[in-house]
Amino acid sequence: VTLTQDELKKIAAYKAVEFVESGMVLGLGTGSTAKHAVDRIGDLLRQGKLTNIVGIPTSKKTQEQALSLGIPLSDLDSHSAIDLAIDGADEVDPHLNLVKGRGGSLLREKMVEGACKKFVCIVDESKLVKHLGGSGLALPVEVVPFCWKFTANKLQNLFERSGCHAKLRNDCEGKPFVTDNGNYIIDLYLKTELGDLQIASDAILRIAGVVEHGMFLDMATTVIVAGELGITIKNK
Ligand code: A5P
Repeated sequence: VTLTQDELKKIAAYKAVEFVESGMVLGLGTGSTAKHAVDRIGDLLRQGKLTNIVGIPTSKKTQEQALSLGIPLSDLDSHSAIDLAIDGADEVDPHLNLVKGRGGSLLREKMVEGACKKFVCIVDESKLVKHLGGSGLALPVEVVPFCWKFTANKLQNLFERSGCHAKLRNDCEGKPFVTDNGNYIIDLYLKTELGDLQIASDAILRIAGVVEHGMFLDMATTVIVAGELGITIKNK
C-alpha cells in the first residue's frame, strides 16, 4: 500500500511526540505536518499520558488549534528557555539546514525554535534536497510593507546571478498576504542553488526593510523523515 503524503506527515509527527515528556515547555510549530504533532499532544494530555505541558505557539493558527485542544499556552517573554520544539519544513538539506515559511510563519518560528534546547523537524521524504534553493520552491523573506517593491528589487538584485525572481506573496483573494506580524512575504524563486548559505543569509538580513528570511541554518537538532520505506531519524 502506498501512503499518502499526509499519512507520512502524520507518521513523522507522531514519532516526534515520543520525545515529549511531562513537564516540558514545548515550541509548537505551524503547517500541515506540525498540526498532526499538536493534535497528538492534545490527545495525550486528554488521556492523562502527558501532564504539566506548556506550549509556545509559533503562529496565531497554531495558538487557536492548541487552545481548542486545551493545551496550556505561554510565550517567549515568560519562557525564554524551551525544552523542545516540533515543526515542519519546506526543504531539508543533508546538513539539516532548512527552508521554512511557505506557510508564512517563519519569523515566530525562528524566534521560538532559536530559543529551544532541541528542535525536532518533521518531514515526509519529498522535502529532502541536496542544496537549499533552486528546487523550484521559493525562499520566503518577510519584509515590512513600507515600500516593499524597493525591498523586493534589492533582494532580486542580490541573487541576480542565480536568476532570481522576487514575487510578492498574495492571499487567495489576490491581496498581499499579511503575516501574523503585519508584514508581507517576498518569495524568492532561484534558478540555481544558494551557494554559501551563511553569506546569503547575512546579505539578506543586511537589507533594510527585511525582517527575517526562511533559511534555518544550524537550528534543527534532529530531523525525522517519514518515507515509503519507514522512518529515518537524522541527528546533528
Ligand atoms: C510555516 O511557515 C512553515 O515554516 C511550515 O512549517 C513549513 O512550510 C512546512 O509546512 P507543511 O508541514 O505544511 O509542509
